[in-house]
Amino acid sequence: MTLPHPIPYQGSKRKLASTIGLYFPPTIGTFYEPFAGSAAMTIYAAFNQRAARFVIADSLDPLVTLLRAMVESPETTASRYRAVWLGQKTGDSEYFNRIRQRYNERRDHVDLLYLICRCVKNSVRFSKYGRFTQSADKRRLGMHPKRMETAILGTSSILRGRVEFRVGDWLDTTADAGSTDFLYMDPPYSGTSVGRDKRYHQQMRRDDLITGLRSLRARDIRFALSYDGATGGRRYGPPLPKDLGLTQLLIQAGRSSQATLNGRKEETLESLYLTPELSRPTCLLSQTQEPWLTAGVSRAIS
Ligand SMILES: C[S@@+](CC[C@H](N)C(=O)[O-])C[C@H]1O[C@@H](n2cnc3c(N)ncnc32)[C@H](O)[C@@H]1O
Repeated sequence: MTLPHPIPYQGSKRKLASTIGLYFPPTIGTFYEPFAGSAAMTIYAAFNQRAARFVIADSLDPLVTLLRAMVESPETTASRYRAVWLGQKTGDSEYFNRIRQRYNERRDHVDLLYLICRCVKNSVRFSKYGRFTQSADKRRLGMHPKRMETAILGTSSILRGRVEFRVGDWLDTTADAGSTDFLYMDPPYSGTSVGRDKRYHQQMRRDDLITGLRSLRARDIRFALSYDGATGGRRYGPPLPKDLGLTQLLIQAGRSSQATLNGRKEETLESLYLTPELSRPTCLLSQTQEPWLTAGVSRAIS
């Protein structure tokens, strides 16, 4: 079985999962992903048996309902997606608009899945009231139901019976984490939280993030945090404060699709902040090699 990825969410960590996963601790009680989105890192960790138990959480209620439905009722969820998908015809964006209207009225999780799959560049956009606002991608029909079914069944098979789903703010959904657990966090970056291009239904204020990270450090929680970075040498946001005691790595995240659209070839680097005990990759623990020499990691900043 290949690594399943049933929700093609923009900002998904699917392609970076194996690089980020190098920094997970060797033993994990419960693996928490409080900004789950498509839960790419949880799926990766479960697939590779990196933890006994998982908590998937997000503040977007229908997204958590969708992930739960995929794990707990995979056949029904796949067949409901098939029915919505088969209703469309090439070139008919009115159908997408009708499903979007229906989602905005009822917040049904399978309608949300269809909208994520079919919208422009899988690039979700929400109003501040949680209404889905992105338009249909006219060149694609969205993930084929057969492929979706395989991805949903795969996700269910690796997570069923081992995962708890929670809806809410990251600090509430991780309140019971302890020192043998591990959190992977991928909050909205500053570039998608301020300015005109607000991507997710809820943004993250940098000060709130820092306050929350301080409370996790005071509780002795092990975590890895993806947050901001740089494209084409331009940095997004200042580094997090030194007194948090985190090691910052830069992960090569590939070509910036926005720059490519504008005719430029620019590499994107994403920051990965680690609590002190994690800054050596698990696979190199017994070696002298420095962690930033690992494939895909650019260098350590501090
Ligand atoms: C960058 S996306 C995560 C993408 C994810 N890593 C993946 O692989 O798909 C950030 C997520 O955080 C959620 N979110 C925003 N503010 C939140 C908060 N205060 N607490 C919990 N989740 C939040 C959004 O709904 C969004 O799904």
